Amino acid sequence: MILHSIKLGNFRNYENIEVSLSNGINIIYGDNAQGKTNLLESIYVLALTKSHRSFIDHNLIKDEKQISKVSGRVEKNGISTNYEVVIEQKKKKCFIDGNEIKKLSDYISNLNIVIFYPEDLEIIKGAPDLRRRYINMEISQLDRNYFTILNDYNRLLKMRNDSLKNMTSFSGLEHPYFSALTEYLIEKAAFLYKMRMKFIKKLNDNCERIFKDISGKDKFHIKYESTFILENMTIEEIKEILKQKFNEGKYQEYKLRTTIIGPHKDDISFWLDDKNLKKFGSQGQQRMAILSLKLSEISIFNGYCNSKPILLLDDVFSELDDMKKNNLLTYINGDIQTIITTTEVNNIESGILETAKLIEIKDGAIKSITEVREEHGK
Ligand SMILES: Nc1ncnc2c1ncn2[C@@H]1O[C@H](COP(=O)(O)OP(=O)(O)OP(=O)(O)O)[C@@H](O)[C@H]1O
Ligand SMILES: [Mg+2]
Repeated sequence: MILHSIKLGNFRNYENIEVSLSNGINIIYGDNAQGKTNLLESIYVLALTKSHRSFIDHNLIKDEKQISKVSGRVEKNGISTNYEVVIEQKKKKCFIDGNEIKKLSDYISNLNIVIFYPEDLEIIKGAPDLRRRYINMEISQLDRNYFTILNDYNRLLKMRNDSLKNMTSFSGLEHPYFSALTEYLIEKAAFLYKMRMKFIKKLNDNCERIFKDISGKDKFHIKYESTFILENMTIEEIKEILKQKFNEGKYQEYKLRTTIIGPHKDDISFWLDDKNLKKFGSQGQQRMAILSLKLSEISIFNGYCNSKPILLLDDVFSELDDMKKNNLLTYINGDIQTIITTTEVNNIESGILETAKLIEIKDGAIKSITEVREEHGK
């Protein structure tokens, strides 16, 4: 998938600009607060109709304006399509080739992007619910079934917890209604577990190699943390274990008035050899780990969607030494359309710079553009 050009009207600090992009690496550079992240954000909005850094849509509209527009021309499997998102103070609309798409889900499934932005580091540093949200969102993008079953699971979990809260005696644990809730919950949980194990395995298949390619050393892997070992188990086996665990834990659940095991309690951890990155990782190592995660998602995406997503990297170079910056660029070069923001291009090897399109931003406008050299153009 290639985004050939993006056009903004009254978006954040931009009034009217149109930027054409190369199908390889695009580097958006400039001083702080000039609009680099805003430009990247506009691509995210074009794909998903909302921002990754603001829940409030009208924040995207340029100060003192009423309406903001982002449009882009995208080529996918040889077909060129125009996408457009229009944001007004209280509503938004989206269009494909000028036709309004009323159902949001019909619009957002078209443009695939993988984004890295600085707040992603919280996936490592933050609380477990952030990591659970990360895996849930990623797997939902790949498989709508997962999304549906996750919603069922959450609904059943709430019913089961309510039932535990309202129980007046131990005998409530044996009540047919409560047993049925437990049984249904186990059905859904087993499916979620199986999908999560498959996803983590795929991430690990790619991550270790990517981390090594960019950092030059170190063995990186991701661990799924659960109350019991799930590797290589069938759904039926997972169900059996869950039944046993629920049975063992029921008096404790009664005491605590909540469901104590299940996918809603699990976590993932990130390891460099035998060091847990959350506790022992440097900023650079944590950044590298998240990057490897994102880059490995691209391969997984490819397998499912048969078309490469667009890679957006916001401020990814901070805290990476020059070798890793250049290794990263070498890794992605030529393989996938990438849009990177940075304040500094001086430390990037000339060989890589020549293959990239450089776009300098100053105060919400393009200050200069350096096209990809002819012999490297694709
Ligand atoms: N709705 C808006 N209307 C006008 N200007 C806005 C709006 N939202 C944000 N801005 C301005 O955009 C600028 C920030 O742009 P952006 O976050 O893209 O900076 P940046 O170039 O990525 O900087 P850094 O290098 O610090 O990350 C700020 O000056 C901010 O005031
Ligand atoms: Mg920025």
